[in-house]
Amino acid sequence: MLANNQPANISSFQHEDRVFPPPKGFAAQAHIKSMAQYRKLYNESVNSPEKFWGKQAKEELVWFKPWKKVLEWKAPFAKWFVGAKLNVSYNCLDRHLNTITANKAALIWEGEPAGTGVLGEERTLTYKQLHREVCLFANVLKRNGLKKGDRAIIYLPMVPEAAIAMLACARIGVVHSVVFGGFSAQSVADRIHDCQAKLVITADGGFRRGAIVPLKQNVDDALGIQNASGEVLAKTIQKVIVLRRANNGIHIQEGRDVWWHREMDNVSADCPAEPMDSEAPLFILYTSGSTGKPKGILHTTGGYLLGAKMTSKYVFDLQAMDTYWCTADVGWVTGHSYVVYGPLANGATSLMYEGAPNFPEPDRFWRIVEKYGVTILYTAPTAIRAFMKWGTEWPRKHNLSSLRLLGTVGEPINPEAWIWYHEVIGGKRCPIVDTWWQTETGGIMITPLPGATPTKPGTATLPFFGVLPEVVDDQGKAVPRNSGGKLVIRKPWPSMLRGIWGDMQRYRDTYWSEVKGSYFTGDGCRQDKDGYFWIVGRIDDVLNVAGHRIGTAEVESALVSNHKVAEAAVVGRPDDLKGQALVAFVTVKGGVTADQKLRDELRNHVAKEIGPVAKPDDIRFAEALPKTRSGKIMRRLLKQIASGGEIKGDTTTLEDLSVLARLSSSEE
Ligand code: WT7
Repeated sequence: MLANNQPANISSFQHEDRVFPPPKGFAAQAHIKSMAQYRKLYNESVNSPEKFWGKQAKEELVWFKPWKKVLEWKAPFAKWFVGAKLNVSYNCLDRHLNTITANKAALIWEGEPAGTGVLGEERTLTYKQLHREVCLFANVLKRNGLKKGDRAIIYLPMVPEAAIAMLACARIGVVHSVVFGGFSAQSVADRIHDCQAKLVITADGGFRRGAIVPLKQNVDDALGIQNASGEVLAKTIQKVIVLRRANNGIHIQEGRDVWWHREMDNVSADCPAEPMDSEAPLFILYTSGSTGKPKGILHTTGGYLLGAKMTSKYVFDLQAMDTYWCTADVGWVTGHSYVVYGPLANGATSLMYEGAPNFPEPDRFWRIVEKYGVTILYTAPTAIRAFMKWGTEWPRKHNLSSLRLLGTVGEPINPEAWIWYHEVIGGKRCPIVDTWWQTETGGIMITPLPGATPTKPGTATLPFFGVLPEVVDDQGKAVPRNSGGKLVIRKPWPSMLRGIWGDMQRYRDTYWSEVKGSYFTGDGCRQDKDGYFWIVGRIDDVLNVAGHRIGTAEVESALVSNHKVAEAAVVGRPDDLKGQALVAFVTVKGGVTADQKLRDELRNHVAKEIGPVAKPDDIRFAEALPKTRSGKIMRRLLKQIASGGEIKGDTTTLEDLSVLARLSSSEE
């Protein structure tokens, strides 16, 4: 089961012996200085979780009203800090205003296009300035009809206003759902429909690799899309707030669309933070699963913020002087927890960059590191592999000596990339934190602590405080060390998802039914002799393409929604750069010519239905798809064909064996 899904270049046992202790000098300054200290806290956290989390919550966050109970666990439903009240925006902003942090940079932003002089437009917002913008914009939201509990869609480029919009929603108890700018109009419409949002916050455009992403145009299209029964999907939308960014002459619909900057002129900067229940919804973030449309993962207030704050502090070892840069887009959970909420709750300086890593040239990231003196860099293995391919001459052009800590997230990192990152970017002096977590977990779950944990290239090492992971077999029994199995989490944790928006049955089925009583991650894993967790990758029908999570079922339904397609099956194959690539097996309807033109058409069709991130890398036409007698598509077989491997295992249940031969040779 595991071998089929193994992405490219995943480490094997031979790397386990390369151990990198925390660099000398690092531990002395770090929040957690030794394995003994980590173990002591970890044991406390899992042996007396309520005591541990109660203490942490008191120390880390500002509460308007204390809790009655730390945890109420009625599996699979958790309530953390029951009865307590707090506000996320208050904890990220107001609490710093009477401290020396008030005039410290909260956000340093660089736009993609050239500014004047040094490459890149620049903006810096101190905590005081950010607070003011957030208060103003929260009043704009109120003025446009939003109330506590309403949902708003945020569809913006990576600009400070994305963080401002999120924090403004949090300030008045509006639930935000950020949609990644690379998703299509259809995806925007589907999400609006699912969460019944009242308002969209967008921009005329954003910059990406020198081109303008037409966000407002996509919103206009989204608001017109109807489903099969003629219902307008986004009919709940009353207002669209438009940020001027690209100045690309967009259409403004009177009565519905308003300009961000005009609205800001009409409101006061006084907006007290609303006391929110600890379990009040904070955001919904859509992510792909193994079946159907993306699921709206629901996160709430107190537990989420505590998780985001503590993991930021301990995993990145945040210190007052740091310039911290997480390269993720706010459209993903990494951007929520580690660009906005986690760093700001800690009073850190968080850097945001709008554009592509290779625009105008492949050294853009290293220019930014040098220019701002970045000390902590958190990025994805797929980016690191691209940098390796582009060549060491690009980072070598720049002074990267400010860096003191490196992180990775999103997919397993192959040891070759880990070593390159360590040597070429980190100059062998920076610890690497390989952090495993998911949209659903809200924050980092398995990770080294940089001053304590000896690392090995390719493993996320050990659990964070309060996290109890285990590798189990199909019966849910723990497997011995060094055997593969399913990764589950045995105990609830504060930043865990609270459900799937509008579909609690799906929440139970997806996460809590595979292994009774435990949270099923969807990942395969192995623990080595030291107890380190080696994540193998997804074992469900979810692919990880360049760190983006893509459901095969979603791409399949996008393909069959094209009138020329009869059937489609989508599988992953290993890819050196992206980890996995998408391969679609397609049968066409009678009279349709399966040629290169149709391939291009179908790829564009998927981009339109979901977004460019979901475009299949290969489309292979077949006369029929291999099926079992009961009519199930044999994915295992397709994966082997897609990877160019030999067909192994039992194929006797194949309905029509000759289909196999045709599939294998269908490439023109
Ligand atoms: C899936 C979750 C949460 C951040 C971004 C991705 C894979 C994530 C690692 C890692 C191996 C990893 C898993 C997981 N993954 N980090 N350090 N090592 N695999 O969030 O889109 O919800 O995807 O990403 O397969 O299940 P996501």
